[in-house]
Amino acid sequence: MIVGVAQGKLNLLPIHILDLIPESVKQEFSGEAGQLKIVFVNSPLERIVLAGLGKKFNLEATRRILGKAISSLDKAVSKVGLYATGLEDYLEDLLVISLISNYQYSHKKNKQVKELTEIVIVADKEPSQDVFKRSAAVANGVVIARDLANAPSNLMTPKSLAAAAKKVAKEIAGLSCKIKGLPELTKENFGALLAVSQGSHQEPQLIEMSYKHPQAKRRIALVGKGVTFDSGGINIKPTPGMEEMKIDMAGGAVVVGVMAAIAQLDLPLEVIGIVPATENMPSGAAIKPSDIVRSRSGLTVEVANTDAEGRMILADGLDYAKEFKPDEIIDLATLTGAALVAFGHERAALVGNNKKLNQLMIDAGERSGEGVWQLPLDNDYRTHVKSEIADVKNLGEGRNAGVIAGAAFLEKFIPKDTPWAHLDIAGPAIKSKPRSYESRGGTGWGVRLLVEYLKSLN
Ligand code: BES
Ligand code: ZN
Ligand code: ZN
Repeated sequence: MIVGVAQGKLNLLPIHILDLIPESVKQEFSGEAGQLKIVFVNSPLERIVLAGLGKKFNLEATRRILGKAISSLDKAVSKVGLYATGLEDYLEDLLVISLISNYQYSHKKNKQVKELTEIVIVADKEPSQDVFKRSAAVANGVVIARDLANAPSNLMTPKSLAAAAKKVAKEIAGLSCKIKGLPELTKENFGALLAVSQGSHQEPQLIEMSYKHPQAKRRIALVGKGVTFDSGGINIKPTPGMEEMKIDMAGGAVVVGVMAAIAQLDLPLEVIGIVPATENMPSGAAIKPSDIVRSRSGLTVEVANTDAEGRMILADGLDYAKEFKPDEIIDLATLTGAALVAFGHERAALVGNNKKLNQLMIDAGERSGEGVWQLPLDNDYRTHVKSEIADVKNLGEGRNAGVIAGAAFLEKFIPKDTPWAHLDIAGPAIKSKPRSYESRGGTGWGVRLLVEYLKSLN
């Protein structure tokens, strides 16, 4: 059983638990934030994991120590108790964390299964069945996003991503999914998506998921970057780190995960999830630096760098999203290394065109623990993506303001009066080592943020 202990408050635990804890542990365990102590006990509980919550309650600190506690359990553990007295208000959130903390992506023949199948809550009042269902829905969304993002590009082609989205939609009531392949994309002039995909043997796909609650008053479009492998194209990436580019569809994976979660949560909204999916490869057929392509919107794009492919496929995805006349558009993309330079793996960069939406995203970030930080976009920056020969250039001023240049490009494809938020998740989408409730590799970062945001619209 995992027992959260506020600093200096160990003695407030019920006597039947306290009695199981040796005196030496009572002496040494202060309950300082982040402190963890496993006590093997001679009782049906088997072991008690004391988790320090610190002096002042902090939800994110509690999530992190819980994640640490769960991931520290050995692989055979399938049932865990949560001593949640005093934490009743945060139960749904903490259950989500419990369910995602022991995630593992593995293709080993003898994969060690480490799955929690049972969580027992000890609290002052009986938690509702609803809490379990709702937390399972969000955790499931995160796991979907992680599985999709972690799959290597030979197993996660644009077609397999589309098939995975179809499968998710089929399994969840109220969710539907439509796919456009090469013939439709060609006929419907998805010129920028097609240009990026032309160097690859894999057929591009446009994934469109939809969910509509009968009482929906608001229509939201989510657009996610679905580059299943980003080699850089003719502007090929250097060897170190190229293998990480299997993750370049993380934005799309988050969109699929969020769609799954909100349909299961039955949120009173209408949400369209759009994922343009393609590989970015070098070949004799690939786009080349200096090429000019006509995007679906009709705007022409100067391809200054074939490695700035994400914004091109999003251009067509965002333009397609317009057809649904959404009240707002949110896009997620592992768009720039510059976002990683600016914020590390800790936060996503936010650029938007609407103060209210920006603030709501920032607030949802604080509540969910998936934080975002806003960067500006004004005319000075808009000039960065001006092209002399096309309507827009897919590159800014070299290394300068890379995140904002990406956003300035995307903005060209957003209707002027539609609130829009762009999340550059290149940092937090992938972790080189596990951290508390986040797995190594694809983190599913953004699912909890967006679910939190969408919930707040009720
Ligand atoms: N997928 C990359 C961005 C990326 C980098 C994601 C590191 C995750 C980790 C993107 O397509 C890219 O290559 N961006 C270029 C843009 C540049 C050419 C304007 C970059 O950031 O270097
Ligand atoms: Zn790229
Ligand atoms: Zn990319």
